[in-house]
Amino acid sequence: MLNVDEIRKDFPLLERVVGGRKIIYFDNAASTQKPIQVIKTMEEFMKNHYANVHRGLHTLSQEASKLYEEAHEVLAKFINAYSWREVIFVNNTTEALNTIAYGWALWNIREGDEIVVTIMDHHSNMLPWRLVAQLKNARVKYLDITDDGYLRYDLLDQLITEKTKIVAFPLASNVLGTINDAKRIARKAHEVGAIVVADGAQSVPHIPTNVRELEVDFLAFSGHKMLGPTGSGVLWGREDILEEMKPFKVGGDTIKDVTLDAVVWHDLPWRFEAGTPNIVEGVGLAEAARYLTRIGMDNIHRHEEELVRYTLKRFEEFAGEVKYYGPLNPADKTGVVSFNVKGLNHHTVGAALDLFGIAVRTGMHCAHPLHYRLGITGTVRASFYLYNILEEVDYFIESLEKIILLKGRFVEQVPRRVCTGT
Ligand code: ALA
Repeated sequence: MLNVDEIRKDFPLLERVVGGRKIIYFDNAASTQKPIQVIKTMEEFMKNHYANVHRGLHTLSQEASKLYEEAHEVLAKFINAYSWREVIFVNNTTEALNTIAYGWALWNIREGDEIVVTIMDHHSNMLPWRLVAQLKNARVKYLDITDDGYLRYDLLDQLITEKTKIVAFPLASNVLGTINDAKRIARKAHEVGAIVVADGAQSVPHIPTNVRELEVDFLAFSGHKMLGPTGSGVLWGREDILEEMKPFKVGGDTIKDVTLDAVVWHDLPWRFEAGTPNIVEGVGLAEAARYLTRIGMDNIHRHEEELVRYTLKRFEEFAGEVKYYGPLNPADKTGVVSFNVKGLNHHTVGAALDLFGIAVRTGMHCAHPLHYRLGITGTVRASFYLYNILEEVDYFIESLEKIILLKGRFVEQVPRRVCTGT
């Protein structure tokens, strides 16, 4: 199991005092804190090796290029890709998914074709497909969930048909935490020749990822949700599909040669990394992947499972005052606990928890259709990671108890510095 006391020492931000006590950071599904190893690696790179990549024969450019290329290899190993050529560095999950939508779907979807996504997808794995469908007169269909937060696998047979060209789904839900059965979906999709897109934004940071076992064709994930910097992320794709896919953004470093009449695209993955990439962030992401590998992704999953189990157990003390959304079996989830307090708006609960020094996300978590499906306008989401501890859950529960006791006295909150309805 994890040595969380030691792990916590690596995260300077956990020393920050908010609400008169050391912060309890339960907003990891939105973005995670950064270990000193990642911070130092980026600093060292900028101090000693920084230059543009793939554009210079001078020493610094050679060093930077080598470190940036090695970062691709580290990420390839992290997800057990067949080759680092399948690993494209992107800004984030959203960019990865848009790259598939505009690089593959736009060129392959025809009028009347169908794209299947799930009702539990966040907007980034829904809106790109909807725009492409609109452009091509295709149709988007949605796989529903059960009342306890699992995908309705029983509906796959009727939803996925000969018309289906893409099946996209989250490996884990950012609201319910549900870990989905990728193989089951991928096998059904492949029976009809559809390509399978897995959104790993909420799974890759929390459970082991092996693209050879998932049986999907594409995988997207963000660096900032797995201890890495913002502006880093990965689009992984099967090499044969990437070779056929059109570049979505084009420009510097995407080509081998250009004449006025023709262009010869670069080798993978550079063909898809247009312009000067986020070099420092890529190197930082690799350090984050190394850090997670040292800790062990299985250990991280088990740790989050324990935190969820304990939280749900303590929720029982609230006897009807707190409604939880998602699978009740912690083994089926990542460390995400979404809930509402009876008679209080989710934003009010979030703002009140902030007074106790507890950071959670409130609202619809970029997953409006899922919330409408649940018949609610938002939730409070506590999301755990490797540095969270049971004592923090205790304090969170005690704080919730106080909030519930003081219920009548709160002025209801409207979102602060967040988009309406997020
Ligand atoms: N990044 C979004 C979240 O907080 C989707 O879950």
